Amino acid sequence: MSEAVQPLLSVRGIRKGFGGSPVLTGVDFDLYPGEVHVLLGENGAGKSTLTRILSGVYLPDSGRILRQGAPVTFASPAIAQESGIALLHQEPLVFPDLNVAENIFLGNQPRKGFLRQIDWKEVYAQAEARLADIGVSLNPRTPMKGLSVANQQMVELARALSQDAKVLILDEPTASLTPSEVGDLFRIMRRLREKGTALLFISHRLDEVFAIGDRITVLRDGDMVATVKPQDTTRDEIIKMMVGRSLATLFDKEQAKLGDVRLRVQNLTLAGKFRNISFEVRAGEIVGMAGLVGAGRTEVATAIFGVAPAESGTIEVDGQPATIRNPQQALKLGLAYVPEDRQKHGLLLPAPIAHNVTLPQLRAFSKMGFVDRKREASAATEITTRLKLRGSRGVQQAVGELSGGNQQKVSLSKWLLTQPKVLILDEPTRGIDVGAKAEVHRLMTELAQQGMAILMISSDLPEVLAMSDRVLVLREGRLTGTYSHEEATQEKIMTSATQSFEEATL
Ligand SMILES: Nc1ncnc2c1ncn2[C@@H]1O[C@H](COP(=O)(O)OP(=O)(O)OP(=O)(O)O)[C@@H](O)[C@H]1O
Ligand SMILES: [Mg+2]
Repeated sequence: MSEAVQPLLSVRGIRKGFGGSPVLTGVDFDLYPGEVHVLLGENGAGKSTLTRILSGVYLPDSGRILRQGAPVTFASPAIAQESGIALLHQEPLVFPDLNVAENIFLGNQPRKGFLRQIDWKEVYAQAEARLADIGVSLNPRTPMKGLSVANQQMVELARALSQDAKVLILDEPTASLTPSEVGDLFRIMRRLREKGTALLFISHRLDEVFAIGDRITVLRDGDMVATVKPQDTTRDEIIKMMVGRSLATLFDKEQAKLGDVRLRVQNLTLAGKFRNISFEVRAGEIVGMAGLVGAGRTEVATAIFGVAPAESGTIEVDGQPATIRNPQQALKLGLAYVPEDRQKHGLLLPAPIAHNVTLPQLRAFSKMGFVDRKREASAATEITTRLKLRGSRGVQQAVGELSGGNQQKVSLSKWLLTQPKVLILDEPTRGIDVGAKAEVHRLMTELAQQGMAILMISSDLPEVLAMSDRVLVLREGRLTGTYSHEEATQEKIMTSATQSFEEATL
């Protein structure tokens, strides 16, 4: 990329606010053909808002967008699309009831004949070709519903590319991918870069930023801090730019005293999902559960919590046999489960933060059948302040208006407030920025020290290694490895998870 090349897309002085609170306060930057430009910033910094402006979802309040030097107005996503801009959303935007091919074409299906009827043969043939193009082998007739997040994302990517995008914006595409899936995505991104596509890439994982980025732009509180090249900077410098101060990225776990076994599962089996899973978690212990997406980790968690109970096997809580057929029973026994997918499970997006956070224990916050709003608000304020949740309007703001990472913090707050004996966390720091991540880790350590038993599912290997007293590895629904904190290494975990470690590294 030489300086003589004209940027494909530029923004100048972009401002945007919601309901009087400024979110972007004058952003300038250029996106060149054939570069991977990384956009970094804390949760709520304004990254997704900027991507939505670039893709015609929002109009800026002021400022200009230039396409190859010429001013453009992206008044709608369709107009941006026609200019060759494609956006991969932070949460995959797919239609679960349609199949893969229908999701790729979404209304643009190839048609034939005088009546312009959908040419299904052509639809499936082209869908297959587009998937093959990005190296994905998926039957285009598969219903979207059952696909892993990684595959849903691949379908979204195939859709974006079928529109012949010149600019591809990827808003945290790797948040729920495993290392090998990230590797696949990066291969595709590199190929597109070679073809001259301009890529804008958002991620909270700094390793990825250095692995794939040609340039890095840091956004802080809606303001541009700087644009740098990875070879001219360091992790620490980048973090300093993001949060405005130095910060230890990984929280040093302190060992808690281990107490009695709080949760014991034996031979837990659910046909087609997992088989003969046995393990225990003690008071004060953090047990990490690693494995590839689809290995059955979430299924084990939801079985224990009673969402989709196991067919056979036993669960004991505090030494007592427990029958858990639904989440209410689990809650009563002192279990809590923070799900991976905040959008689908458990958050009422139109409702205020305060209400969402106190939802599992409405009774505790009610007096004679009425919710005590003041207590609700003060409890919510306390826990969300602790997690550094950042919205523009305090705990009365609707959860749906929060940035992705901040929604995740609401989900965490909600279950922490129930003060469970056994806390099951499914990807607790997915989509959470470096500062808040350290905060979540500190909190987990504190909770363990107070005697909570924590089961943490995570695809983030540094997190698993740093936080777990013991690591369990699942592969295809079976427990394939157990390592103590001292024994566990990235290589051992990946070997247990995949067989072949080479394939799974970036
Ligand atoms: N529709 C909306 N109404 C009100 N406020 C909004 C709306 N959309 C975004 N915001 C606010 O704008 C700010 C920036 O949000 P944005 O989603 O751009 O952050 P982000 O940098 O993408 O964060 P994350 O890393 O968590 O995804 C947040 O404070 C958010 O609450
Ligand atoms: Mg975002």
